[in-house]
Amino acid sequence: MNNFIFQNPTKIIFGKETIEKIGDELKKNNIKKVLIHYGGGSIKKNGVYDKVVISLKENNIEFIEVSGVKPNPRLSKVIEGIEFAKKNNVDGILAIGGGSVIDSAKAIAGGFFYDDYIWNAFATKNRFKKALPLFVILTLSATGSEMNGNAVITNEKTNQKWTTSGLALYPKVSIIDPTVQFSLPKKQTINGAVDAISHAMEFYFDGTKNNEIQLQLAESIIRTIITTTEILLGNPEDYDARANLVWSATLALNGLLSTGTKGGDWSSHELEHSLSALFDVSHGEGLAIIFPAWLKYNYNEHIERFDRFALKIFNIDTGNPSIDAKLGIETLIEWYKKIGQPTTLKEIGITENNIDKLVENATQKEYIGRLKRLSKEDIINIYKLAL
Ligand code: NZQ
Ligand code: ZN
Repeated sequence: MNNFIFQNPTKIIFGKETIEKIGDELKKNNIKKVLIHYGGGSIKKNGVYDKVVISLKENNIEFIEVSGVKPNPRLSKVIEGIEFAKKNNVDGILAIGGGSVIDSAKAIAGGFFYDDYIWNAFATKNRFKKALPLFVILTLSATGSEMNGNAVITNEKTNQKWTTSGLALYPKVSIIDPTVQFSLPKKQTINGAVDAISHAMEFYFDGTKNNEIQLQLAESIIRTIITTTEILLGNPEDYDARANLVWSATLALNGLLSTGTKGGDWSSHELEHSLSALFDVSHGEGLAIIFPAWLKYNYNEHIERFDRFALKIFNIDTGNPSIDAKLGIETLIEWYKKIGQPTTLKEIGITENNIDKLVENATQKEYIGRLKRLSKEDIINIYKLAL
């Protein structure tokens, strides 16, 4: 196990009927005027918005709004949010939504105090050092953004989908009421499940040795996500299945699984982000296509770990590690198909003609991969395997 620092300052309030607590939480943190940030309006249909407004009014908290955050959140919306927040002199941000809304809110919170051009917080080492206090009402479990310091934003002018991170960006308080997710379309539940599994796999397959506790944590998170997703596809309102899925997704990317590791491989995420940047593919869908291709390309780099994955997740044990590793990957692909995800680029309309563009986009990154540092040729090969 490698040395590590673990510090997670986010307070989580979890369970039924917890959204009502938001006003009180803001008050306790001396917030008088808050910018509410949300997406395309699902929160107005499922009653979340009304509950928030009642709670804010009860606690005499003033609010203004910037809505319309799109999945794969855009830099232009962030800039709009920063300008509006400054003009109205808010003292906090309240994100109500999934990863896209939370990430956009983080960029606004950091951008509020940032002197440089905002995109430099993503494209250079000049990260956000200070941010407005951020509060979250989570409506879609997938990214773990409710309990981490990452924000992923798309610069639509340059077609770059890049990540920034830092201690300043952790939410102060996140409220997670699993019943809010009863209203999710099946597709979003599935995307979230695939994303959270992928986070656990990024740490699992980064080449770290002797990290038994993190491996067992990752395995139980992945197994829990598989079983609960299957239950929810039959009954989206099964509270216990939903609550277990939701908390598993938070734990998959709140820093717990990364402790003692090399920090995760992240190749599949980087290659997927290029897919989303260029073709506006949803993150969970892109990962169901790219991650299996990366697994197929790299299993020989750490065969014992891939063998173990097959055994612990899918009970595969033929006695031959190489066969088991391959069977494990195939079984994961079959499960993605079973829950309704595409597993090839062709299925989402991307062909060999698009590979050059994808590679050009992905190779702008400083480096990709920790299990194996990917060369340009490796990247071409992985995209081709995903066809
Ligand atoms: O726009 P609204 O109306 O909110 O609708 C959203 C959106 O259309 C809808 N939705 C959310 N909650 C709902 C709901 N619909 C009905 N009922 C509800 N309760 O779901 C759609 C997708 O939402 P989005 O926020 O885009 O999904 P997700 O949470 O998967 O976030 C994906 C984004 O996060 C980034 C991804 O790259 C992508 O941009 N990531 C962020 C990470 C992080 N901050 O740590 C790490 C991840 O690896 C990832 O890269
Ligand atoms: Zn992800």
